[in-house]
Amino acid sequence: MLKGSTMKTDIDVVVCEVGLRDGLQSIAQFFPTAEKIAWIQAEAAAGVPAIEVTSFVPATLIPQFADAQEVVMAARAVAGLRVDALVPNLKGAERAMALGVNSLDFVMSVSRTHNLKNVRREREESIEEFKRIVSMVRQLPPQQRPRLTPGLGTALGCSYEGAIAVDEVVKCAVALAEAGADEIMICDTVGYADPVLVKKVFTAVRSAVGSLPLGAHFHDTRGLGLANVTAALDCGVRRFDASLAGLGGCQFAPGATGNIVMDDLCFLLDAMGLRTGVDLDKLVSVRPMIARNLPDVPLYGGLARSGLPRNYVPAAQRAALTNLIF
Ligand code: COA
Ligand code: ZN
Repeated sequence: MLKGSTMKTDIDVVVCEVGLRDGLQSIAQFFPTAEKIAWIQAEAAAGVPAIEVTSFVPATLIPQFADAQEVVMAARAVAGLRVDALVPNLKGAERAMALGVNSLDFVMSVSRTHNLKNVRREREESIEEFKRIVSMVRQLPPQQRPRLTPGLGTALGCSYEGAIAVDEVVKCAVALAEAGADEIMICDTVGYADPVLVKKVFTAVRSAVGSLPLGAHFHDTRGLGLANVTAALDCGVRRFDASLAGLGGCQFAPGATGNIVMDDLCFLLDAMGLRTGVDLDKLVSVRPMIARNLPDVPLYGGLARSGLPRNYVPAAQRAALTNLIF
């Protein structure tokens, strides 16, 4: 499959649903495979262009992803959908590539402590592992290569180390860029970011990696998620991760929430005149699929609670009107 060939062109910002991976990885209760697939199909039908559908980690570590193969196969059958998967190492990348995943979301952390706890490696070892993945990908003809979209976790703060030096983020980003990343995700894994810090980090990384696309992955742990999105937009970021209904959170951290809410993110972007390709009403109507499978997990979101403003005109229609008038 051609890199990015599945992506639509009439959108301004690419949103990627990560609830099936980031949201579900902290939930012990198994989300039935058929329901995961129905969720993917419904969200794609609502216009979401990219979904991180699973994680290629050892099933002994996270049993929630024991069905990775089945989920990817079903997702790949959805026309026009970019199928992403998290891969923590070469073995995960091999498994994902064998199934034709479109984007390999390699994960490493800027925080040394978190990287050791999460993937049991020094950061330098993670970079070496990423290089091995790049070599493997480059054995394929260019049109068959998956996108290499590594993410830098804890780039805006770490619950073990606290503040993370901007220089460290830049160093890791440059190493990934030089190794062959197609795009780098900057991730606020534990929701420590604020808009000023976002601008500082994204500006510094941008000036170090040139025109390489950067994406943002925010958690709404302290309620600043969408404020951070607007700061990243100001820095030129045009790809955001989010999870429907803000799925995620941690049952061992009272008050913690998951990723930014996909439905609210899409509304924010749309309201600002940025087309996402997503039908907001259809997107909100997917939420009950989560509720019926995880009745005890709290769901978040202002759009679902309050609905669209009266006489709301979606960005795509406003753009068409503007074109007519001028
Ligand atoms: N998929 C399936 N099996 C894998 C695997 C993968 N991606 N990576 C390793 N394994 C298997 C190995 O083959 C080995 O199996 P064996 O005991 O039968 O020989 C076993 O797992 C241990 O392999 P090893 O390379 O020693 O891994 P590890 O125990 O050091 O764990 C990671 C390293 C990276 C696999 C693990 O820490 C991990 O998956 N971390 C990601 C955690 C995560 O998802 N965090 C949230 C996302 S940010
Ligand atoms: Zn996350």
